[in-house]
This record gives sequence, structure tokens and C-alpha cells, in this order.
Amino acid sequence: MRDPDGMPVTLSDFEIDAAGRLSADLLAYLEGGAEAGQSVTENRAAFGRIGLLPKLLSPCAGGHTRTTILGKQAPHPIMVAPMAFQNLFHPQGESATAMAAAAQDATMVLSCQTSTPPEDIATIPGRRWFQLYMQADHEATMALVTRAVDCGADALVVTLDAPINGLRDREVAAGFTLPDDVRPVMLDVLPQPPRPHLRDGQSVVFDGMMVFAPTADDLARLIADSPVPVIVKGCLRPADATRLIDLGAQGIIVSNHGGRVLDTVPAPITQLAAVVDAVAGAVPVYVDGGIRRGSDVFKALALGAQAVLVGRPVMHGLIVDGPRGASQVLRRLRDELEVTMALCGCATVADITPDLLTGFSGTGS
Ligand code: FNR
Ligand code: LAC
Repeated sequence: MRDPDGMPVTLSDFEIDAAGRLSADLLAYLEGGAEAGQSVTENRAAFGRIGLLPKLLSPCAGGHTRTTILGKQAPHPIMVAPMAFQNLFHPQGESATAMAAAAQDATMVLSCQTSTPPEDIATIPGRRWFQLYMQADHEATMALVTRAVDCGADALVVTLDAPINGLRDREVAAGFTLPDDVRPVMLDVLPQPPRPHLRDGQSVVFDGMMVFAPTADDLARLIADSPVPVIVKGCLRPADATRLIDLGAQGIIVSNHGGRVLDTVPAPITQLAAVVDAVAGAVPVYVDGGIRRGSDVFKALALGAQAVLVGRPVMHGLIVDGPRGASQVLRRLRDELEVTMALCGCATVADITPDLLTGFSGTGS
């Protein structure tokens, strides 16, 4: 579907248009998931199995999508998820995304693997958080934190679900490799820890890569030293959420990394209510994965999310029409959320309650 100016309209229209503009290897990197990609499919399908059960005769005049995100007023509950290497998809990369997010007053989470220096992005107005992969060495981690906070990040999003890379069949088959001119510019300047020397019979995974994986003590130390709140991304288990809060986490993002790390993990939307229940209001809970419609945002809020994060669709917008396209994607999602709220009888996000959902067996999107 296209509007009279020839622009895609829905998020799936942007996805189709973007796919037509990308080489096969870039498309495999952007859309691909871990192994066979079952979790990628499931992330979206799970929303299709949740139906809406609207209320009649609810006054909605003067309604709005306003909410609070980490103590600050936000006009809507939609944020931009951290995504690595955005210069693959637009010459201005993360700066272009920052412009789009700013245009829609959406918080952008800058990836630790940004391909644009954070100093360049700092000149663009808007609220930003920084996604952090904890490094083998605490000083290196704190160097990243200091640089990000100096560039305006007012929260850290520590991703814990990818201590090592997952295996991605589609990327391997398409032969994706990072081009020389797209680099993780913040990580490139850090000193690299010496690689452990593997003896015969030792495992590359357990004796090599996992030697550097963060521990609970590392997280507690980071939280103690961080000048800004720390939110943990990648939680799917209620018991992990309560443990993370005990360690000092000030927010939880229920996520499976867009299905990109470990295949056949459940869709985050199916774990959200259980995590929210366990957290019991101690900290805000956010969710991402497979959100492609305003009704998906509505369902996430009904199940207890304070706000949602959107990943791939923002890149689709960027690929189709730069900052304007990415901005249009965010705006469309918000417009759809408003229509869904009005038709379900919700004037504010506080009115979006679980009784407005019901089981549904549809085909999704
Ligand atoms: C990601 N994601 C991600 N997450 C993270 O914590 N750090 C990162 O560097 C990246 N990089 C990244 C690159 C690309 C190309 C994609 C598509 C995703 C995961 C991201 O933050 C988010 O969890 C998912 O993308 C959400 O799912 P949807 O909205 O893409 O379905
Ligand atoms: C990804 C890594 C970079 O999802 O987090 O591609």
C-alpha cells in the first residue's frame, strides 16, 4: 500500500519496500535471526494470537498517549531499540536515526556497536539512552559509560542475552561480512584483552569466549559506579527479573534480541505478564520484539509494559527515505496506537488494562 506521494504506509509496506532496496547479504543481516529463525517468526505471530476486546460507550474525547519514561514525561510510549552498525543502512547511520527519533520525540537507545561516534549524535536534540555490552575489564566498561554519558545518555541499557554471538544460518548462507568502512567506533578504540591461549581439548566457547562473559558481581559493580540508571535488556524469566532488581537494576526490558541470538526462545510478549507480575511495580518493565502495529503496542501496555522498543521497522524507514522515512514509521505506529485506544475505549494509557485482551487465532500483521 502507498500514499498519494508514493510512500509506503504501514510498517509492513516499509519492510517490503526496504527489502527491495537491500543487497541479499545486508537483508540477511537485518532480518535474520538465530539459527533457523523460528523466534523471529514467533515474535510477530504471538501478537496475532492476542485479540482485542473493546469497551463500548467509554468517553475518549481529550484522550492522549502520554506516559512517563524513567521519571520523565513522554508524549507516547514508543522508543527506538539499539541496533548495531546503522551506517550499513544509511550514509548518516545513527545520526539519521537520532533525527527521526527527535522528530517524533522518541527516546533512542544508541547501540554499543554504533558505527557513528556518539559525539556526532550529541549535537542532535532528543532523549537518548546508551546500550552497553559489559567489557572484560571494568575500566574499559566505565570508559564507554563515561563517553556515552558525556554525549548525553541519561540511562544505560545493559544487554545480557548475548554474552557470545548466536549462530545465524541466513547470514552465513548470504555471506554477510562487515564492510571495512563500517566499524564499531566506540569499541575499536578500547584496549583489547589478551586472548586466552587454548590448550588441546579446551573449548573455544567455554575456555575462550565465555571467559569474558559478565557475572552478577560485574553487574553490581557497574550499577554502583554508573552515574545514570541501569536497565537490563534481554530478560525472559520472572526469577531473573527479581534477581536483577536485587542487584540494583532500575528497569527490565523483556526481549529476545529480536530473535537474533538463540532460536526457539519464546516471544517476549508471551513472557511479559509473568515478568510484570514478579517485578510487582518495583521498577518499570519494557518489551521489544515483533512490534509492527499500534495494536501490538496496545497489547504490550495491556500486559503491563510501561513502554515498548521498536527495532527493524526503524531501519526499514531509514532505508526507504532516510530520517523522514524512519520518522514516518514511528509516527504511523503512534497513529495506529491512538486509533486502537479510541476504538477500545481507552482515553489514556492508564485505561489500557488486561481485560481488553482475549485469545485470538489470526494470521498476524
Ligand atoms: C539489534 N539488536 C541489538 N540489541 C542490542 O542490545 N544491541 C545491539 O547492538 C543490537 N543490534 C541489533 C542490530 C540489528 C540489525 C537488529 C535488527 C537488532 C536487537 C534490538 O535491540 C531489539 O531487541 C530487536 O530488534 C527488537 O525486535 P524487532 O523490533 O526488530 O522485531
Ligand atoms: C546484533 C548484535 C550486534 O543483533 O547485537 O546484530
